[in-house]
Amino acid sequence: MSQERITTLLTDSRSYLPPEHGRTSAWICGPEEYDELCRRALEDPSDFWGARASQLIHWFKRWDKVLEADDAHHKYKWFTGAKLNASFNCIDRHLISGRRNKAALIWQGEKETDVRCYTYQMLYTEVCRVAHALSSLHIRKGDHVALYMPMIPELFIAMLACARIGAIHTAIFSGYAEGGVRSRIQGCRARVVITADAAVRSGKIKPLKANLDPILEKCPSVGHVVVVRNAGLENVNMQRKRDTWWHDLMDDFTLNPDFPCEPMDANDTLFLLHTSGSTGKPTGVMHATGGYLTYAAHTTQWCFDMRDDDVYWCTADAGWITGHTYGLYGPLALGATTIMFEGVPTWPYPDRYWRIVENFRVNILYTAPTVIRSLMRMNEAWTERYDLRSLRILGTVGEPINPEAWRWFYEHIGNEELPIVDTWWQTETGGAMIAPIPYATKLKPGSATKPLPGIDAAIIGSAGRDGDEAEEGAKAGHLVIRRPWPGMMQGVYCDEEKYQSYFSRFGCYSSGDAAEVDSDGYFWILGRVDDSINVSGHRLSTAEIEAVLAACPEVGEAAVVPMPHALKGEGIYAYVVTRDEVPWSSSLRVKLRDTVRRDIGALATPEYIQFVEAMPKTTSGKVIRRMLRKIAGDSHEEIGDTTSLANPEALAAIIAGHNNLVAGRHETENAPDEEESSTI
Ligand code: PRX
Repeated sequence: MSQERITTLLTDSRSYLPPEHGRTSAWICGPEEYDELCRRALEDPSDFWGARASQLIHWFKRWDKVLEADDAHHKYKWFTGAKLNASFNCIDRHLISGRRNKAALIWQGEKETDVRCYTYQMLYTEVCRVAHALSSLHIRKGDHVALYMPMIPELFIAMLACARIGAIHTAIFSGYAEGGVRSRIQGCRARVVITADAAVRSGKIKPLKANLDPILEKCPSVGHVVVVRNAGLENVNMQRKRDTWWHDLMDDFTLNPDFPCEPMDANDTLFLLHTSGSTGKPTGVMHATGGYLTYAAHTTQWCFDMRDDDVYWCTADAGWITGHTYGLYGPLALGATTIMFEGVPTWPYPDRYWRIVENFRVNILYTAPTVIRSLMRMNEAWTERYDLRSLRILGTVGEPINPEAWRWFYEHIGNEELPIVDTWWQTETGGAMIAPIPYATKLKPGSATKPLPGIDAAIIGSAGRDGDEAEEGAKAGHLVIRRPWPGMMQGVYCDEEKYQSYFSRFGCYSSGDAAEVDSDGYFWILGRVDDSINVSGHRLSTAEIEAVLAACPEVGEAAVVPMPHALKGEGIYAYVVTRDEVPWSSSLRVKLRDTVRRDIGALATPEYIQFVEAMPKTTSGKVIRRMLRKIAGDSHEEIGDTTSLANPEALAAIIAGHNNLVAGRHETENAPDEEESSTI
């Protein structure tokens, strides 16, 4: 997406009214009802959230207080005194509510003929067996279990089994490589890791267990590894005593598998998920059972107008928060049918999504702008040959959607009649915060529209695109949330300082995004104000990538910035100063790129690595990234005042080097990677 396009979008005044048909039976029937809910939610939040929690969740014991707030320390406890279990809410209660034989999970493998379907009863049996198995490995309430798994049913089953026991799961995206996996396992001190022999992506086998083995040598907390046989790899190295095949372990629990749910305190942690922070160390975001589950069910129901017979598909990988909230917990808490897909949208042909929609008559499709952009480049015949009439609601997440992608989604997939819910949220928020309600909110392409009822979003201070100062006269600033909400993170694992940093600047939750509000109260997200990069809708930390580059013996200094990318939204651009006497060469460039790939994962691969003599620095020696961003984004003319630079002469050389690099880009060096462009 180019900067120009975003600018066009911001001045685009087209809007789309919510569809009339289906409105009367919707959960929220129109703008009047939405306004009334917003009024009530802000007037009496305890009443509002308490009512939602009662309607949506089964509590073993009701709460004493809806919210216990310690504003001075920014600590918020939801539903204090209450007891519940997330696994019970996602499975057991549906067994007695007439959904026992309803499909809970439909899994489409990478191979067209690989389909598995679990009814709620079948899911119950599997989850109980895994809970027994984990228990036999001495996993108890409060223990940490890491899941380094592809998109296979065993991943959701393992998450629900952990929830059943009260163990805290940490999913690690299977596209992460050595450093990314190690820091996440070490970061939660996992006792057990569940993985697979291999992931299958675009017809290629990516060994997971073999990747894991050297990593585990540096993770002393891990006592057991459970391995799902997914790709049928031969010669998987199984370490005696430590490693067990999933199927062997489960074999011991085929009979009478009932496993009672651990009654969890509402504020016991349900899971930990790492997101990229401002340092090289990922942030371990913790979500509490009661508040998170309530918020997941609440937003799934309202944002997607979820009905009981809907077949719902969130295409996000469960290694990310979207897969947690809208792949698993939200839909299953509501007793819906959720779809899980192991493959990528474009392999073997770019019709996988549309085949799945037709095959399973999907009603709600929630995906990412990056996926839409990759599919819209294909011939229209790939969509036209499929019957997409089952679709009722479309959704997007992860980054602002550009108008071309919005139009294509609206016309080719939505037949110019389906609402597109563009949902803004974050790992830390647990669920959607600013998003349209399908039958109540007028849509403006590119805007996540308005805050959901009960969400007190506002713009504070002045901040613009890319963390720059806002343009003069613009109402752009830091996007903050002024009141607590049940889905908000509970804390940052073992890092109170990091948790407090979200609140310290403005005294309320600061998202780290810049946004602008228009005269209708619509929010337009402008991007991050910190050093995160949003690649294909996934937040990556520049500091983490810089640390990997700086650890290479040839590298003296590295600075990583985002650059506009037509497919991924943002790409990664790295500036590198080599150590004395190390010559600049394309082979070094390839080596550095491969190092990032191997250490963090394909998603973090830089598009460009530019060698420079020196970074632009302030007199105190700080790299001025703002300028590097402008150069990477081809906006040299916007660099602005350079008088604060200690070495202004460096800039001209960097600009010239950038122009050469872009002009002479070697396709073979920078060939797009399937995994990078389709990780959603
Ligand atoms: O910058 C925003 C962008 O993604 C960031 C959150 O990343 P993460 O925690 O990985 O979660 C992604 C999925 C929820 C935000 O700070 N973002 C997310 N959704 C949108 C978005 N930017 C614009 N529009 C969105 N709908």
